[in-house]
Amino acid sequence: MSERTLVLVKPDGVARGLVGEVIARIERKGLKLAALELRTADRATAEQHYAEHDGKSFYADLVDFITGGPLVAIVVEGVRAVPAFRQLAGGTDPVEKATPGTIRGDFGTEVQFNLVHGSDSAESAEREIKIWFPNL
Ligand code: PPS
Repeated sequence: MSERTLVLVKPDGVARGLVGEVIARIERKGLKLAALELRTADRATAEQHYAEHDGKSFYADLVDFITGGPLVAIVVEGVRAVPAFRQLAGGTDPVEKATPGTIRGDFGTEVQFNLVHGSDSAESAEREIKIWFPNL
């Protein structure tokens, strides 16, 4: 069944020139791009996006990081798009969890600088898409 997911190429991924690499992997998987925008997130957007992590030890660093430079927000569409992108991304920690062959496993080393975000469920995806693309 076709569904949507929200992908962010985080500021570290943009700064390292990995936007094309991430998009190529999404497209090779058979998923489609439904919307895409390069932008610098303001704090309100970042805080809404990461609301469920408010209060965790890494929350402030995460909001600072995600607002610290341009990122690319993408709505990805396709069959099982949510788990399919999370498979492409790999586990949260690029060394401890992500395996080689995944975006984080191939390009990342630090948990904070893990290059991409992908929604963790179809419900989260719809909530996040409203934050980043309110007119979609
Ligand atoms: S949790 O607590 O299991 O829900 O957290 P997790 O799903 O592993 O991570 C949630 C998001 O927080 C980011 N994260 C961090 N950022 C900075 N520093 C540290 N130590 C850290 N640990 C986790 C992680 O990359 C997740 O971001 P997204 O954008 O959702 O991938």
